[in-house]
Amino acid sequence: MIKISPSMLSCDFSKIGEEAKKIANSGADMLHLDVMDGHFVPNITFGAPVIKSIRKVTDIVFDVHLMISEPLKYIEDFIRAGADIITFHVESDSDVKETIEKIKSLSCKVGLSVKPGTPIEKVFPYLDDIDMVLVMTVEPGFGGQSFMGDMCEKIVTLRKKLDEMGKTTDIQVDGGINEETVCLVAKAGANVIVAGSSVFNSDSYEKAISSLRSNAEINAL
Ligand code: DX5
Ligand code: ZN
Repeated sequence: MIKISPSMLSCDFSKIGEEAKKIANSGADMLHLDVMDGHFVPNITFGAPVIKSIRKVTDIVFDVHLMISEPLKYIEDFIRAGADIITFHVESDSDVKETIEKIKSLSCKVGLSVKPGTPIEKVFPYLDDIDMVLVMTVEPGFGGQSFMGDMCEKIVTLRKKLDEMGKTTDIQVDGGINEETVCLVAKAGANVIVAGSSVFNSDSYEKAISSLRSNAEINAL
């Protein structure tokens, strides 16, 4: 099933609560919240207190993407703030298995992400334990970058591996996704679509979300 998760990184932060509500009322399935620590990636965004504030204004699924060096340290904070799914990076300094267990023990869903330079095979040992794999289609750190088309091969390899295992695990893509590039990732086997600038820079969030969804559905496997 195709799910659309607009990234709040491109919203107007002076009215973040209003923006979150607007996205939730525009047909989105989830809200993608990008947490950056200025260490794992060369940018700083927001943390658990901001997420907790947004939680008060909407009950949409919170899809929290941790681009931080030590996710294990902060899992409880993000779950307490209202995360429904927490995705962290296989390249982080925390023990991957331990971090997955911690998230699951607190009844939250788990995603595992790979940066563009990391082989997709790095997530294979964990596929039995996770709900989602996030294949980054730009270098994490900033919104508005160009889509890296060669990441589609990773999505194809991962979908094939999941099929062989008899799993329907979600494959999320993040970075440079718009009306055109969504066709390529959906064709490759991705089903959870993150989009920041293409949604927030559009005249109508509702129209942007619905065209991402229909283009993904037409091209889905
Ligand atoms: C980048 C973030 C993305 C970002 C995507 O590191 O993980 O979620 O907001 O922005 P766009 O869709 O503009 O590439
Ligand atoms: Zn993200």
